[in-house]
Amino acid sequence: MGVRSLLLCGVSIAFPLLVTADACKDENVQNETVAEDQPFAFNCTLFPTTNGVVNVTWHKTSSKIALSKDIQLRIHQEHTWILFLPLAQEDSGIYHCVIKNTDGCYRIPLNLTVFKKHWCDPSRRSPANLSDDYIQILPTGKSGSLTCHMHFPKSCVLDSVKWYKGCEEIKAGKQFAPSRMRLLVYHTSAEDGGSYACTARLTHAGRTYLVRNSIIVSTTGVGSGRRIPNITYPRNNSIEVRLGSILTVDCNITDVKENTNRRCWRVNNTLVNDNYSSSKRIREGVESNVSYTDHIFYTVNITFLEVKMEDYGHPFTCHAGMSSAYIILRLPAPDFEAYLIGGLVTLVVLVVLVLCIYHNFKIDIVLWYRRAFLSTRAIEDGKLYDAYVLYPKCPQESQGHDVDTLVLKLLPEVLEKQCGYKLFIFGRDEFPGQAVANVIDESVKLCRRLIVTVVPAYPSFGLLNMSAEQIAIYNALIQDGMKVILIELGKVEDYGTLPESIQYIRQKHGAIQWRGDFTEQSQCAKSKFWKKVRYCMPPRRYSPSSSVQLQEHTPCDGTILAWGLITH
Ligand SMILES: *[C@@H]1O[C@H](CO)[C@@H](O)[C@H](O)[C@H]1NC(C)=O
Ligand SMILES: *[C@@H]1O[C@H](CO)[C@@H](O)[C@H](O)[C@H]1NC(C)=O
Ligand SMILES: *[C@@H]1O[C@H](CO)[C@@H](O)[C@H](O)[C@H]1NC(C)=O
Ligand SMILES: *[C@@H]1O[C@H](CO)[C@@H](O)[C@H](O)[C@H]1NC(C)=O
Ligand SMILES: *[C@@H]1O[C@H](CO)[C@@H](O)[C@H](O)[C@H]1NC(C)=O
Ligand SMILES: *[C@@H]1O[C@H](CO)[C@@H](O)[C@H](O)[C@H]1NC(C)=O
Ligand SMILES: *[C@@H]1O[C@H](CO)[C@@H](O)[C@H](O)[C@H]1NC(C)=O
Ligand SMILES: *[C@@H]1O[C@H](CO)[C@@H](O)[C@H](O)[C@H]1NC(C)=O
Ligand SMILES: *[C@@H]1O[C@H](CO)[C@@H](O)[C@H](O)[C@H]1NC(C)=O
Ligand SMILES: *[C@@H]1O[C@H](CO)[C@@H](O)[C@H](O)[C@H]1NC(C)=O
Ligand SMILES: *[C@@H]1O[C@H](CO)[C@@H](O)[C@H](O)[C@H]1NC(C)=O
Ligand SMILES: *[C@@H]1O[C@H](CO)[C@@H](O)[C@H](O)[C@H]1NC(C)=O
Repeated sequence: MGVRSLLLCGVSIAFPLLVTADACKDENVQNETVAEDQPFAFNCTLFPTTNGVVNVTWHKTSSKIALSKDIQLRIHQEHTWILFLPLAQEDSGIYHCVIKNTDGCYRIPLNLTVFKKHWCDPSRRSPANLSDDYIQILPTGKSGSLTCHMHFPKSCVLDSVKWYKGCEEIKAGKQFAPSRMRLLVYHTSAEDGGSYACTARLTHAGRTYLVRNSIIVSTTGVGSGRRIPNITYPRNNSIEVRLGSILTVDCNITDVKENTNRRCWRVNNTLVNDNYSSSKRIREGVESNVSYTDHIFYTVNITFLEVKMEDYGHPFTCHAGMSSAYIILRLPAPDFEAYLIGGLVTLVVLVVLVLCIYHNFKIDIVLWYRRAFLSTRAIEDGKLYDAYVLYPKCPQESQGHDVDTLVLKLLPEVLEKQCGYKLFIFGRDEFPGQAVANVIDESVKLCRRLIVTVVPAYPSFGLLNMSAEQIAIYNALIQDGMKVILIELGKVEDYGTLPESIQYIRQKHGAIQWRGDFTEQSQCAKSKFWKKVRYCMPPRRYSPSSSVQLQEHTPCDGTILAWGLITH
């Protein structure tokens, strides 16, 4: 049992190791050319893989055995770094750094070339094309800075940094200001190009070493294209921004690792932080960087806490060494789309409003229009009457009384007296002795409208008599332009009980319901019911001869009552 589980355990450990060792993904070869006799360190990084918790091991060539982590050894691994303290000629070769994390396994080869360098001895040149020189640019006519690139793990302490031009140490003065890993150069001229060097003392585990960088400096215009920092944003573009808003703009730069050029934002050739040092309204952000294998990506932003009028139209320039690119703030153009949408919405609202008003006040508008603009002259169409009134003779007392009141009293009162219409009311206006059918036939022809009154309680035999009704309606229907006004006395519960011709009229012309209670209010031409009737009547005003003026002069509360008393 014990043996079997041991075996299983061994297999389960060895198997993933074997598999992963072979499954490692090879990354690009990293080439390093370094002079011998000085410390050298290389950090194993693979962005973004090495950002989390990772297992890194260093191997020489293809050896399966990892390098030691004993810090006393000349070559050893510290965290993710490989350290040579110091480098020897025989260290040249390929090293592998193996990164294992949850995603998988990566192998980064390091091609290290160690050569003998003769410092400050122009007669004995270094081997051809084997250069460890850093190349940096100084912009002529301006101030610039050089950087000493020394990358070591934290266990290495660097101090006593010295700067050299050629073989002479640089002292602080009018032209140069050494500042630890940086060398500031004021008012660069063409003579400032050439060979520089920086040295530092490195202390590790109680031992000290000397590290040395050589830097080839060219002045603006000399460097090759690849060495020029690439400002990917801004691109000399303008930005629309509202007055008073907060604005942050990134300056994104890709640059080679060796370039040490200062990146900054300027306005009118002054650093923004200097120009707005008191108000701090416009500030340059702290630069951040991301390292890739062959370049570094820098971002430095500029923040306007409040955009002011004076900021518009001036370039704010991002500088990175000899490259520069600017942004110009612009006031936003008026938003035509918003105007258009606003206009359309207003129009739709207006149309809806107008339709609503028309729907609700159609009758009032039409009546007002007739009153205001139509002539009082009678229409010359050979007709004698404005309407022919057809109404039922009801057998029951109360209903019959209502119909008679409406037709014989209210209709003449409102339409004839108040509005000046001329009505033909059957049973009132026919000449005695005439045959009923003839009267109807001839009279209807002389009328412009047919007013039919129905009593819902007695729909089928509520009309005068079948033949009279039929003649009238027949005339109305076949005579083009003859409009029928249907007045219902009360609510009709079931239209199916009405004669077909009435149903047809109702469908075609609609009906006006009489809900009046025969009070004085219902005798007013301005009440809702009479307005509807007048609306359906021909567009003709009361005749001038009419004694009663409708419009303003017919108060519907007081005088009508008086009239009611008189007629009763
Ligand atoms: C290193 O050198 C090899 C061969 O000279 C080349 O293929 C490779 O691209 C180089 N790697 C880098 C990162 O420059
Ligand atoms: C070295 O690489 C590790 C990842 O492998 C990274 O976390 C660390 O920041 C790097 N150190 C430096 C100084 O770049
Ligand atoms: C790294 O590997 C060692 C053994 O080689 C293991 O003990 C450790 O847990 C690993 N760490 C991670 C973060 O994978
Ligand atoms: C390593 O670098 C040297 C010189 O830079 C080059 O000649 C050689 O081909 C490189 N080897 C590999 C495997 O890239
Ligand atoms: C060294 O590089 C130069 C160009 O930079 C080239 O003309 C020359 O052939 C190279 N020499 C060797 C030995 O590779
Ligand atoms: C700079 O970057 C942009 C976008 O990444 C690219 O199109 C352009 O070619 C680059 N220019 C140079 C000189 O590298
Ligand atoms: C932006 O303008 C600067 C001059 O201010 C010029 O040197 C640069 O080439 C321009 N860049 C682009 C992308 O047009
Ligand atoms: C600049 O780079 C940052 C990443 O650091 C990115 O989020 C941003 O979109 C970039 N801005 C532009 C304008 O390219
Ligand atoms: C730029 O600065 C100069 C002086 O340094 C000043 O005279 C000029 O008005 C400034 N221009 C703008 C647009 O700020
Ligand atoms: C600072 O900026 C303001 C506004 O752009 C400008 O008027 C002024 O001249 C600038 N100052 C300097 C020293 O450039
Ligand atoms: C601008 O840069 C600063 C760092 O200086 C950072 O804290 C801030 O988040 C950046 N702002 C934006 C909008 O990216
Ligand atoms: C990148 O940023 C880190 C801090 O975030 C800084 O220590 C380092 O010097 C920067 N690298 C370069 C090349 O500017």
